[in-house]
Amino acid sequence: LHPDEQKFFDVALGLVQTAGRLVRDAFDTPTSVVMIKSSSTDLVTETDQAVEKMLIDGLSKAFPDHKFIGEESVSGGAKIEFTDAPTWIIDPIDGTTNFVHRIPMIAICVGLTIKKQLRAGIVFNPITRELYTAQTGRGAFKNGFPIHVSNNKTINTSVLCASMGIHNVKAMGGKWLEMAQSNIRKQIEAGVRGHRSFGSAAINMIMVSQGCVDAYVEYGLHAWDMAAPAVVLLEAGGVMFDPSGSDFNLMGRKILCAATKELAMEISSKLTHADFEPEA
Ligand code: IPD
Repeated sequence: LHPDEQKFFDVALGLVQTAGRLVRDAFDTPTSVVMIKSSSTDLVTETDQAVEKMLIDGLSKAFPDHKFIGEESVSGGAKIEFTDAPTWIIDPIDGTTNFVHRIPMIAICVGLTIKKQLRAGIVFNPITRELYTAQTGRGAFKNGFPIHVSNNKTINTSVLCASMGIHNVKAMGGKWLEMAQSNIRKQIEAGVRGHRSFGSAAINMIMVSQGCVDAYVEYGLHAWDMAAPAVVLLEAGGVMFDPSGSDFNLMGRKILCAATKELAMEISSKLTHADFEPEA
């Protein structure tokens, strides 16, 4: 435990709450300028950029030696450098497409790693005012109350979150969509109770963390989609793997998370796996 970890968390939480007001105001003002990043399914707004800047400015003022990996900074050309230093991994609005379409499922995500280990996560939906927090070893909370994953061990009693990963269509020499569809099909054939997809990786992971959904698989994610909710998920008693069943890698661009190891392994055995280049 770093001696100042509680202070790190408290400062970040204050900033996230201020950022929440900014996002809520922008959500209520139907005039945001939408910009396209790598493709028409990869969006950014002025609010994403303003929130990321506000969080990074605030944290670096409080902790000048800390490092940052932020979605919009990386889109703007910053290199991902994942070192042992305390590193804040930030997605200013996870669920930007939801934000643009005024679907109230979005999350400000701030995760902290120290010596490359996940230490704290804050996931805040400022529209529904649901605040999820976790510090490693101290439990996971929604608005201050403890949350826990379900106890589901089999696909045929589970609800799964899955996304086709629209941004991956060109992956695997154009074979991506076929593979993603067949993975969903195999889960249906295994008797899954249903699929859900909330348009935000963080919210999908939170749904697993609070026991409404039993597992979630997605390929093509980034560290900023996963870092903060990963701490919440683990502290809520969940498990996280690479979809192949090997160890989870925060920089590995994919996740299989679940309420139990048994369920994760059953899902993993039904997937055709795709490789992604790690981002660091
Ligand atoms: C996206 C969301 C979406 C996931 C994409 C992410 P963003 O994050 O989490 O659910 O399918 O891979 O990029 O761009 O809205 O921060």
